[in-house]
Amino acid sequence: MIGNVPPELDQQLGLGVPFSVLDVGCGTGSWALEIALAYPNTQVTAIDLVTCPLPTYPNNLTFEIRDIVKNLPYPDNSFDVVHVCDIKLGIHDYRSLIGECSRVLKPEGWLLGLELDCDPTLMLDNAEDVPRYLKSVSEFIKIFHTALSERGLNAYVARELGDYARQVTALDHVKHVRVVVPWNDWSDDPKLKLAGRHSRLAFEEFSSSIRILLQDHGVLNPDRLGNEAKAEMDQEGIRPIWGFYHLVARKRAM
Ligand SMILES: C[S@@+](CC[C@H](N)C(=O)[O-])C[C@H]1O[C@@H](n2cnc3c(N)ncnc32)[C@H](O)[C@@H]1O
Repeated sequence: MIGNVPPELDQQLGLGVPFSVLDVGCGTGSWALEIALAYPNTQVTAIDLVTCPLPTYPNNLTFEIRDIVKNLPYPDNSFDVVHVCDIKLGIHDYRSLIGECSRVLKPEGWLLGLELDCDPTLMLDNAEDVPRYLKSVSEFIKIFHTALSERGLNAYVARELGDYARQVTALDHVKHVRVVVPWNDWSDDPKLKLAGRHSRLAFEEFSSSIRILLQDHGVLNPDRLGNEAKAEMDQEGIRPIWGFYHLVARKRAM
């Protein structure tokens, strides 16, 4: 599946009619690029606080530097698709952001969201065993969550996206589902194995990206904390998983 695009939307995009797409907090621009290349009939606008690092990109993709905390700088009913992925660490008021995304969506447009649910866990029969196997991970996550709440951020916002979307009257057909993927390459299923490898790399990025957050919180050696958590997750014989929440909603027809 391309860019976590739901099959019904994929069908619509495949018809070749022009579609305008907004990627909010695009980061490296990889999702926006994937969509622009897969669907040449789209005009993709990717926005972030910082410049996109892509050296080249197709004509149907544009990057803009925008602070999304200050509302989305577009008129009502501007886009057919609005995508938000993994931006919770920069957003204090995700509820308002969902409202803004809905405002700039055209009637019958698609809102696509994806956020990591911060706790890694294990494929175990008894979930109570998790702290026993993952002491450093539990410690790492606990400190991370405390550091987030000191900054007024909600580590569990991924779980609330469905409620936020349902509270926006302009949105309809809200689907909010938890998806789990292996945390590393323990799975025999080739697709899950690949997803696991990506997860493992993502955790490397994640643990270094929160270094300053942890230091501000008083952790003297955040790298050591992250490395201990990684080593624990790589233990033989355990099957760690991550949880994500996917959000799909449609804006009501006028
Ligand atoms: C973890 S990255 C995720 C990037 C991309 N969506 C992805 O899934 O790969 C989070 C991005 O959100 C951006 N971001 C955070 N707060 C923002 C804000 N207030 N305005 C615009 N972008 C913001 C960051 O600059 C960063 O590029």
